Amino acid sequence: MKVLETKSKVIQALNSCRSKDVSIGFAPTMGALHEGHLSLIGRSATENDVTVASIFVNPTQFDDKNDFARYPRDLAKDLEMLDGAGCDIVFAPSVQEMYPKEEMRAFDFGLLDKVMEGAFRPGHFNGVAHIVSRLFDVVKPDKAYFGEKDFQQLAIIRRLVEIEGLDIEIIGCPIIREADGLAMSSRNTLLTPEQRKNAAIIYRTLLLSKEKAGIMPLQELKKWAIEQIDATPEMKTEYFEIVDKKTLEKATEYKENDLQSCVAVRVGNVRLIDNN
Ligand code: PAJ
Repeated sequence: MKVLETKSKVIQALNSCRSKDVSIGFAPTMGALHEGHLSLIGRSATENDVTVASIFVNPTQFDDKNDFARYPRDLAKDLEMLDGAGCDIVFAPSVQEMYPKEEMRAFDFGLLDKVMEGAFRPGHFNGVAHIVSRLFDVVKPDKAYFGEKDFQQLAIIRRLVEIEGLDIEIIGCPIIREADGLAMSSRNTLLTPEQRKNAAIIYRTLLLSKEKAGIMPLQELKKWAIEQIDATPEMKTEYFEIVDKKTLEKATEYKENDLQSCVAVRVGNVRLIDNN
């Protein structure tokens, strides 16, 4: 596995592959890897000749400077895990390498970046789109792999590819969970043992709300779910929304198979998201 820190080295390494007509799979990450990330790498490795991963804690997508500063980082361990998962090339650039100038692009995603994460983290998806479009520009993959864990991000990336007219197939991959159902996340390591134990309520509530969805009016259901989570020590729901899977519009009535429940919860000062 090659570990490269500059765009030019990645372009050079991949150009020699491209001339041999091999397929390139790509999974962008912010490191602090876990089985969720590795599932994307594994899937790419089975579907492509060459798999590229990036590790870059992207400052422009953090609306909260503290969150950026304490985002977990462990490059040595990440590289070991990527090697074991079948990754061929790791792109681990510096901030200067990705953002030599201050300028920011402004993307128009319509409703997609106005609701849920977009409403609570202003500028977040613009930063995500900005870095992903730069990474796509360097790697130029045939297929790119994103987790359904970040459900709204996946919708934004699909739209980004449409807007930019890129010939990249976006593959959504299922959420990998801990044994008690908590969605794997790099931020889980920031929880105290007590908070970690309590956090299982998030997925339990998502599952129960799916059972109740056909029976209870959606407005009541959302209220019930929020009460359920907020009754747990140190937990505060930021939003619990039931939305159309494609448009992310708030659902007004129950439609089997077309809806997704999305939740963001503060556990102490750690922010977790999940969906089902
Ligand atoms: P990060 O949070 O590191 O996630 C990288 C990828 O792993 C994303 O596509 C995310 O959805 C996926 N992922 C995370 N947890 C997962 C889980 N439990 N199961 C399945 N997939 C999971 O998302 C980002 O980084 C950044 O926004 C990025 C796209 C890299 C742009 O900076």
